[in-house]
Amino acid sequence: MRKIFPADALARDRRFNRQTPEERLSDPRISRPGAGNPSSSKLTPEQANGPDRARALMHGIFVGEIQALEGAGRTCWDFEEGTDVPFELKLDMARQCWDEARHCEISVALSDHMGTELGEFAENVTLYEAACNPDPVLRLTGVNRALEGLAIDVFNTMKEFGNMAGDPVLEFCEDWMLADEVTHVKMGSDWLRRLTANDKERLDKALEFQRVVDRLFSFNGFRGEDDDSPIQLTRRFRELAGFSTDEIDEIADMARETKNEAPV
Ligand SMILES: [Fe+2]
Ligand SMILES: [Fe+2]
Repeated sequence: MRKIFPADALARDRRFNRQTPEERLSDPRISRPGAGNPSSSKLTPEQANGPDRARALMHGIFVGEIQALEGAGRTCWDFEEGTDVPFELKLDMARQCWDEARHCEISVALSDHMGTELGEFAENVTLYEAACNPDPVLRLTGVNRALEGLAIDVFNTMKEFGNMAGDPVLEFCEDWMLADEVTHVKMGSDWLRRLTANDKERLDKALEFQRVVDRLFSFNGFRGEDDDSPIQLTRRFRELAGFSTDEIDEIADMARETKNEAPV
């Protein structure tokens, strides 16, 4: 079986449509009121397009779950145990595959519950592309720490959205997936430290890759600590997942910078 499988060869049926992140953001169903004006961007059930934005966000999570499953599976296969990665890292990735497969099933049921058809929103493959990095440590920072760190923020925000909307199905689905994502991010944090304990250059490179991915998803104040950020940065769960206070502060600062850079 081939190693480092390219994103454009992933198996998808005709329901799935692929778009770049930029194309996806121009979807009028999910544009925020007063686009370019982050002060009106909080995601709430009362907002006119709040339910559509919530459905689009959870569809994005659904395709992300498929890619997380594919990425963790590839990391089990792409590297030689002993020389490239320890066997225990592959065991963690295998456990992650099981969790992501369950998240796919939960997401399909949740889509149905929210009135969303699979493929109703487009897929972009940023997560899987980050999972193709030839260095397993960069996969762990790009996918487990940056993108699954973002998933922690999304699940916690959507859990609160479910609570506000009086929807216990949404609230509990988010809570169950959130618990697993904290574990996946912690795996990333733990393996990053173990595999780079004596290799400062590799650690710096891996953290820089994490920053690049984090920055992609902090645009326009999308994820941040301000009350009007659509996705709230979740300090408590990030601490449980092995982020230091300095690391969380850095993500919060990045969000503020990108918000200030946004066109008004
Ligand atoms: Fe997941
Ligand atoms: Fe995950």
